[in-house]
Amino acid sequence: RLVSMTDMLNKALEGKYAVGQFNINNLEWTQAVLQAAQEEKSPVILGVSEGAAKYMGGHLVVAAMTNALLETMDITVPVALHLDHGTSFESCKSAIDAGYSSVMIDKSHYPIDENIAQTKLVVEYAKSKGASVEAEVGTVGGTEDGITGGIQYANPAECLRMTTEAGIDALAAALGSVHGPYSGEPVLGFDEMKEISELTHKPLVLHGGSGIPEHQVKKAIEFGHSKINVNTECQQVFTAAVREKLATDANVYDPRKVIGPGKEAIVAVVKERMQVFGSSNKA
Ligand code: G3H
Ligand code: ZN
Repeated sequence: RLVSMTDMLNKALEGKYAVGQFNINNLEWTQAVLQAAQEEKSPVILGVSEGAAKYMGGHLVVAAMTNALLETMDITVPVALHLDHGTSFESCKSAIDAGYSSVMIDKSHYPIDENIAQTKLVVEYAKSKGASVEAEVGTVGGTEDGITGGIQYANPAECLRMTTEAGIDALAAALGSVHGPYSGEPVLGFDEMKEISELTHKPLVLHGGSGIPEHQVKKAIEFGHSKINVNTECQQVFTAAVREKLATDANVYDPRKVIGPGKEAIVAVVKERMQVFGSSNKA
């Protein structure tokens, strides 16, 4: 059974580790992330962007697939199914109605009053269904699913308003991370991070988790991050492994054999990330 993020993130904040959100794109992807979580005895969050949900045939398909896999794969670790960067109340509602246990409402590009008001509406609905809610203040840079934006650091006072007024479970306070690959080392606002964490006492979410060096990940966790989102890294290892398979096996035509190495590569990278995030053996 799917669970919300509330418990797993509060435990992570308390225990000074982070739960990974790994974005999924298809059946094999979901199997790979669940297998990694079970083998690592780690809680896990399956992230589904609106684009990925559409690609897979809609939220009902994603929820049915995930629930079925929890059964057939005998998954016993806590798993949340989470809408990533939901753009509207309707979008969040349709995910929750389909069976998602968590949503992100991302109104970070709007003025803070509007952002908080919209988030509140989602929280009200989500709470009535037992689902958790993540909101964003400031903006994450880079490109994800064709959505591109510049970096804007989160304002600590606005973060406090968001957590107290909207009643969210987790806060994505954008502090210099970007979606997609980094050119060079990321420049994260660690001072602001510490300030926001001490001010809000809420689990913080690090978007753009792919390509952040281990020492920065550790520092981000120390400064209140309980959830780290990883998408690009899984896509990169999947594609590299499939490319290698096709390049070295001219006779392969069974799609299961073409995709197989990509799936294995995701299992490996997710397990490695869980170890770095400290969520292994925390289920
Ligand atoms: O919401 C998803 C993430 O923030 C993923 O970012 O693709 O850079 O890992 P990433
Ligand atoms: Zn993100």
